[in-house]
Amino acid sequence: MDWGLKNRLSRILKPDTGHTVMLAIDHGYFLGPISKLEKPGETVAPLLDHADALMLARGVVRNSIPSDMDTPMVLRVSGGRSILAGENLSDEGLATAMDDAVRLNASAVALSVFVGTENERQTILNLAKLVDEGMRYGMPVLGVTAVGKELEKRDARYLSLCCRMCAEFGASFVKTYFCEEFEKVAGSCPVPVVIAGGPQMDTELDVLNMCREAIDKGAVGVDMGRNIWQNEHPVAMISAVRAVVHEGKSGAEAHDLYQSIKSDG
Ligand code: R5P
Repeated sequence: MDWGLKNRLSRILKPDTGHTVMLAIDHGYFLGPISKLEKPGETVAPLLDHADALMLARGVVRNSIPSDMDTPMVLRVSGGRSILAGENLSDEGLATAMDDAVRLNASAVALSVFVGTENERQTILNLAKLVDEGMRYGMPVLGVTAVGKELEKRDARYLSLCCRMCAEFGASFVKTYFCEEFEKVAGSCPVPVVIAGGPQMDTELDVLNMCREAIDKGAVGVDMGRNIWQNEHPVAMISAVRAVVHEGKSGAEAHDLYQSIKSDG
């Protein structure tokens, strides 16, 4: 791996633990202003110091993020369809040029692949092209195994296929979903895997237990959005997630931390 690419990646996957807590706020790229992300700058301001990296699109970077912040950024560069596109949601292209990612001082770029959809070939070739450009610039690529609205697709057989394909085409790391038998997903993917959170879960403890199990089964961290910033106490929540990911805390121990920060705040 080239020095620049390794150096960028080490800003995201923290060298002291090998783990990461990425904060995803890229949802507007196809969902528009979803709840609690109407003003991304306000949502993210109290969380910036708690995140190892931010995942977001370039318009939000330029309009909502202070340029003197030093949280590394993973720039969402794929897109092209909205939630109104139904089954065509997977019809994505590359929507941001690599030189703009460099101009923004991104530490990685991210794109979605939609395996098993009618657009799988197109999105996999998007990945291949992005990796070629990333190699030219020393820019790591995060492959996102997208399922669109079909959340039921999230099983180990399907996600193993998606993650492995992202790695085979050269992604430096992969974002996927947690599932039963997650060890098969992480264990058959030769590059680091982070998990998304998905829609808000019933309880904070559910989220923290999921994070614990994911790490124990081979994930290097999370790239989480709604379960953090849609929580009533986002700083307490991201702190609790960090305790699991970086400090080896159990879900219950991290939940105690959540409760205590919540009461203090
Ligand atoms: C999908 O909209 C984005 O790629 C999100 O970054 C991803 O789903 C992670 O966010 P959440 O934890 O809210 O699912």
